[in-house]
Amino acid sequence: MGEECACGVLCLFSRGFPPEPRSDALRGSLRTMLRASASYSAADLRHMKRCLDLASRGAGKVSPNPMVGCVIVRDGRVIAEGYHRRFGGAHAEMAAARSIAVGSLSGCTVYVNLEPCSHHGKTPPCAVMLARMRVRRVVCSLRDPNPCVNGRGIAILRRAGVRVDVGLLAREAAELNRRYLVWVRTGRPFVTLKAAVTLDGKTATATGVSRWVTSESARAHARRMRALHDAVIIGMNTANTDNPLLTVPGGRYGPMRVVVGSLQHVRPGLRLCSPDGPPTMIASPMISRTTLRRFSRGCGGAMVAVFRGKTVPPGRLLALLSDLGVSSVFVEGGGETAWHFVQAGLVDEILLYVAPKILGGSRAKTFVGGEGFRSLGCTLPLTITATQPIGRDVLIVARPVRRMDCATTAQAESTHVHRSH
Ligand SMILES: NC(=O)c1ccc[n+]([C@@H]2O[C@H](COP(=O)([O-])OP(=O)(O)OC[C@H]3O[C@@H](n4cnc5c(N)ncnc54)[C@H](OP(=O)(O)O)[C@@H]3O)[C@@H](O)[C@H]2O)c1
Repeated sequence: MGEECACGVLCLFSRGFPPEPRSDALRGSLRTMLRASASYSAADLRHMKRCLDLASRGAGKVSPNPMVGCVIVRDGRVIAEGYHRRFGGAHAEMAAARSIAVGSLSGCTVYVNLEPCSHHGKTPPCAVMLARMRVRRVVCSLRDPNPCVNGRGIAILRRAGVRVDVGLLAREAAELNRRYLVWVRTGRPFVTLKAAVTLDGKTATATGVSRWVTSESARAHARRMRALHDAVIIGMNTANTDNPLLTVPGGRYGPMRVVVGSLQHVRPGLRLCSPDGPPTMIASPMISRTTLRRFSRGCGGAMVAVFRGKTVPPGRLLALLSDLGVSSVFVEGGGETAWHFVQAGLVDEILLYVAPKILGGSRAKTFVGGEGFRSLGCTLPLTITATQPIGRDVLIVARPVRRMDCATTAQAESTHVHRSH
């Protein structure tokens, strides 16, 4: 899946990745544009908005690459458009350029929501192609922090005399490719925590029944969100109690599945162990060879990753997944599993589907379990970034505003996972 670039870093990407609740109000965009630079015109803004729309069509298909769209304009008229459609496919600039005659790029303005690449990956460098085609101007929203690019694409273009303007709709572009950006900047996958809860915060009855807390429309939405991630993570209790397949819309198999927990607790007949569908990994704390042998007979369809110690540190699990090319994970619970990620400070976004009902029960599970924080001065502070009614339920989207700065974090892992290659 990966390929070596000039800087010696294993590049699992070459371009592209997914969207969602996007703030596309023209007024907001206009404000951002004016802040970014006074030299952008209304036409610049329109073309870049179109780039973002085109880019979002690659959602769920281009990962671990970013989602990129491209619009080519000559004399104020759009002459070509393109976007990165699938991993390994043509980059947006190439997809747009090949729809027009060779030579017609000369003197054009090219709009693209991410810096054109500068390295030979699965396709030749787009910056070199644009420079050779003698484009006049390139407008891009963001510099690509991928160490194989990181300003080199812009430098190639400027050296060739092309005017390059960077920063138009930067906030919207960063939002669109937030999973890619976190993965590239930190070296670990973007982590989305998802749960379905009642209004009193319960995810299941005291006896562990959770089907179904929310309505079919909320569950369908959650399946669409699942499809935008590279891997789904669940805890051993959820795997054993619900025996899920973790499919995506249309009942299709979705991303890779990861079950965290002791191998000896895997129940017989776990559907995730079937050799059909995407790979399943059991991420287990240390186990004996005998357990491993017994497991291989009962759940041969899954791969096993064994971690030293009594628990699986989320940061180490994420580092392993990142090395397998996973740029985003969808942590679907239950509460014990969610706590490990919260405690480690390894959460980027929370999707909470809230059903207007009360379940009650002091022993009924909540969204985040574990030991919990011990004081109100020590919490995971969040900001709610969106709320959206879905059928009779409500989706709350929240993001951490800063890292926890209390005693608990002393045991927590670093959010920055260094990749070993
Ligand atoms: N409504 C919802 O959105 C929703 C979503 C998911 C689940 N649920 C419900 O929640 C209930 C299960 O939740 P739960 O909190 O009991 O359990 P859970 O989080 O599904 O599983 C907990 C178990 O997973 C393993 N585990 C998790 N993180 C680990 C780590 N970092 N290191 C090592 N082991 C780890 C441990 O298994 P070992 O003991 O084997 O080591 C632990 O006992 C079920 O009733 C399920 O139906 C509801």
